[in-house]
Amino acid sequence: MAKLDLGRSRMVVTGGAGFIGSHFVKMALARFPDIRVTVLDKLTYAGNLANLVEVDQDPRYAFVKGDIADAKIVDELSKTHDVVANFAAESFVDKSIDDPGQFVLTDMYGTYVLLEAARKHGIKRFLQVSTDEVYGEVLEGEADEKAPLMPRNPYSASKAGADRLAYSYFATYDSPVVVTRASNNYGSHQYPEKLIPLFVTNALEGEPLPVYGSGKNTRDWMHVEDHCEALLGILGADDVEGETYNVGAANEYDVLAITGRILKILGKSPDLIRYVKDRPGHDRRYAVATAKIRAKTGWQPRRSFEQGLEQTVKWYADNPGWWKPIKSGDFKREYLARYGSLK
Ligand SMILES: NC(=O)c1ccc[n+]([C@@H]2O[C@H](COP(=O)([O-])OP(=O)(O)OC[C@H]3O[C@@H](n4cnc5c(N)ncnc54)[C@H](O)[C@@H]3O)[C@@H](O)[C@H]2O)c1
Repeated sequence: MAKLDLGRSRMVVTGGAGFIGSHFVKMALARFPDIRVTVLDKLTYAGNLANLVEVDQDPRYAFVKGDIADAKIVDELSKTHDVVANFAAESFVDKSIDDPGQFVLTDMYGTYVLLEAARKHGIKRFLQVSTDEVYGEVLEGEADEKAPLMPRNPYSASKAGADRLAYSYFATYDSPVVVTRASNNYGSHQYPEKLIPLFVTNALEGEPLPVYGSGKNTRDWMHVEDHCEALLGILGADDVEGETYNVGAANEYDVLAITGRILKILGKSPDLIRYVKDRPGHDRRYAVATAKIRAKTGWQPRRSFEQGLEQTVKWYADNPGWWKPIKSGDFKREYLARYGSLK
């Protein structure tokens, strides 16, 4: 299909109150004066309307509280919109190990509900936001889009199911689906269960930093705005239906290297590091080849990791009002259950 006029689209962004979705919504509204964006979000523990305050008075933006697995709500929204970007997911690997059921329900079944409604109502483009974790661990080199999917935990397995279910709607029903598989994102507004915001906020509070196993597991770290730019580029490009695009920044660092950088930026002591029992099935390394998206849209990551991390650390330091309320109650209970008392 020809290019999509994204600037005039009426887009449903599921999971738009989460970390990446909220950055995506703000970027789409800032870049396209005539776009309409409706966020569909269940507001789980990870969803936060404070992530969207900058746009909540914007007449081009609407918010609907609801579950992507609720066919009635999804059907209604699909009647009046022409693009779907599916960010909604349970996204924390550790939680998926404790309790996989909700991951299957949201990440897989919820995606099915969205795909069905998209098919029924002739949605013009459906973006399935997948992850590099679907490849499983990549011990050497880089996985390109044809590499086998070998997910090893319930989160990545649910995402892999959704990723291929989305593709099957293209292959079977000719639905205009495109899939992206991004590496680890970092930036502002990330829920502090994830590595970088957890370690930054713990260090700010003088609390210990729990490092799994040896701390030698590596990830590719990409700034969330680089990811969102890649997604907007793919959503608007021609002939992407049925295609899959890796998105990554080739910033490969292990956990200890990230921890060291955070401590250095904040001027805190390495004595805060605590080694804790490794996560079961912890993938040692992810790495993706990104030649395909670069050739297709000319996209490339623009933010250096050094600057991006410094700005991110500064954002958490400047915005305790965003993360302090989150890191109490249930968060604290789960944190203690996961890592124990680290004092
Ligand atoms: N964070 C990363 O590094 C990364 C990397 C690659 C891909 N992804 C994918 O990007 C997407 C967004 O990730 P994130 O880090 O922003 O996650 P997040 O946990 O910060 O946000 C998820 C959002 O989805 C909402 N949600 C959860 N279940 C829902 C449901 N059933 N119905 C409607 N809304 C629901 C939550 O309320 C929350 O607002 C996910 O699909 C994730 O798999 C994330």
